[in-house]
Amino acid sequence: MIEEIKQELKNKLVSYYKEKYDTEINIVVEEPKKATLGDISVPMFLVVKTLKRQMPEVVDEAVSAIKSFNLPLESINPTGPFINVFVDKKAVSNKILKEVYASKENYGLSHIGDNKNVTLDYSSPNIAKSFSIGHLRSTMIGNSLKLILKKCGYNTYSINYLGDWGTQFGKMIVAYKMWGDLDAIKKDPINQLNKLYVKFHQEALNDPSLEDKAREAFRQMELKNPEYLDLWKWIREESLKESQQIYDLLDVSFDSYNGEAFYNDKMDPIVKELEDKNLLKEDQGAKIVDLGDDMPPALIKRSDGGSLYITRDLAAVFYRKKEYKFDDILYVVGNEQKLHFDQLKRLVSKMGYDFSDNIHHVGFGLYLTNGKKASTRKGNVVLLYDVLTDAINLAMKQVTEKNPNIKNKEEIAKNVGLAAVVFADLKNFRGLDIEFNIENAVKFEGQTGPYLQYTGVRIASILKDKTFDPNNIDETLFDKPHYFELVKLVGEFKSQIEAAAKEYAPSIVAKYLLNLASSFNKFYSLEKINVEDEKTRNTNFLLAYSVRVVLNEGLRLLGIKYLEEM
Ligand code: ARG
Repeated sequence: MIEEIKQELKNKLVSYYKEKYDTEINIVVEEPKKATLGDISVPMFLVVKTLKRQMPEVVDEAVSAIKSFNLPLESINPTGPFINVFVDKKAVSNKILKEVYASKENYGLSHIGDNKNVTLDYSSPNIAKSFSIGHLRSTMIGNSLKLILKKCGYNTYSINYLGDWGTQFGKMIVAYKMWGDLDAIKKDPINQLNKLYVKFHQEALNDPSLEDKAREAFRQMELKNPEYLDLWKWIREESLKESQQIYDLLDVSFDSYNGEAFYNDKMDPIVKELEDKNLLKEDQGAKIVDLGDDMPPALIKRSDGGSLYITRDLAAVFYRKKEYKFDDILYVVGNEQKLHFDQLKRLVSKMGYDFSDNIHHVGFGLYLTNGKKASTRKGNVVLLYDVLTDAINLAMKQVTEKNPNIKNKEEIAKNVGLAAVVFADLKNFRGLDIEFNIENAVKFEGQTGPYLQYTGVRIASILKDKTFDPNNIDETLFDKPHYFELVKLVGEFKSQIEAAAKEYAPSIVAKYLLNLASSFNKFYSLEKINVEDEKTRNTNFLLAYSVRVVLNEGLRLLGIKYLEEM
């Protein structure tokens, strides 16, 4: 809302100078250095420079111009070369809160993405390996981005690009044939397959020929060896079942589960196109594309004819462009794959397509446990499912302590536990590595998901069974700093969502919600909400109600459930 007034003030000043002096001046509007100076500040340096006049004259003229604009401003205070402006707190607050009241969960809806298609590639676990906590980041960041982009008007298409093809299946098959115990595997497929995978790597340290055997087994798969393909299909199904448990728990879904294997029959035409465009080059029997001095060449075909991760991604990006007509495509994948996506973009651009600029690697940092990266190969993997269950159990303890007789305890504990894990992740800028501490994440105070849920529940209980008339309020209250600070934050919701959509950063929404909640809790410590005086009470209720609407909707955008009780 203040953002909008800022923009309008800027536009009006630009038109003013255009009309009067027939010159385009780039007016800057900013936040004053100190909040006590005003809500908006307009530096006049550029105007002075362009018009070649003295500062005092220019400032005087600008002040009278601003006075003549029809904007909800309370006072205009020139301070040296700056014009500091206070907005009309009553009018602005009234407008913000009325809008929340009228729009409810649609408050904050943006149109920056109207008529645009975004394809999102996220989660994408590797079949036959456990769904590690490392994939949590991709799943939750991707899911939240989808919700944020939808809120901004984009059409989204979400793809779980399963890692269901590649040499690791060759390893799996070799390990299965050498050490597999079918009965044990049938009972507990993923765990047993994981053990086999770990064993393969241990044994391969002493016997490097195992790697050759694995490559050969994978080659057989690519040649459609029926025995191997059957085994692969079964492993794929079992793995998906396991992942689905996690998606159900987190309430995450996808429009497509087409993984790497889906592109097996779609690579040849792309390789041919590379050839026709003279991009493909022999290199010790393999086929590569030179990508320039700043990055290594892309290996497109192995010397044994086998395809690679990048070959499949290249086929996939063209398929998706054609099928989903994306304006932008996001790959929510760890930072360690940066080079891979740089290469993908360069390949597309070398092939002569301009959409390479619309390919975005939305990278994220490592999930550290005790300062170390979790890894499947060495077997010290942290299982996402276990982390989620631990968090839910801890949440159960806390809920029971706080509210022993609460109904639906299981359901509440589940949602609190999940909120803890998801928020601990999303509150950090995605590019950073994060160290996860489950005890801290589940706490009801501090910068946690449960803290936000708890703030919402507090408001819900204040408003329970109450009615209020949003048209019968005391506007003078908005002149008080703790009122206005809170209203102002409520009014920022939309611009925060838009910023998150532009940066592909759910953390912007997460941090905003923390500010909102702490501003509300500060307000609540200073002000009794349910007071005698009717107008004051209506104002307080309307404000609390608005905070609750924004908190709920903000949590939803992060993929976190809000609660009525906890
Ligand atoms: N399965 C891969 C992994 O876990 C991630 C796939 C990401 N998406 C893609 N289009 N390459 O490392």
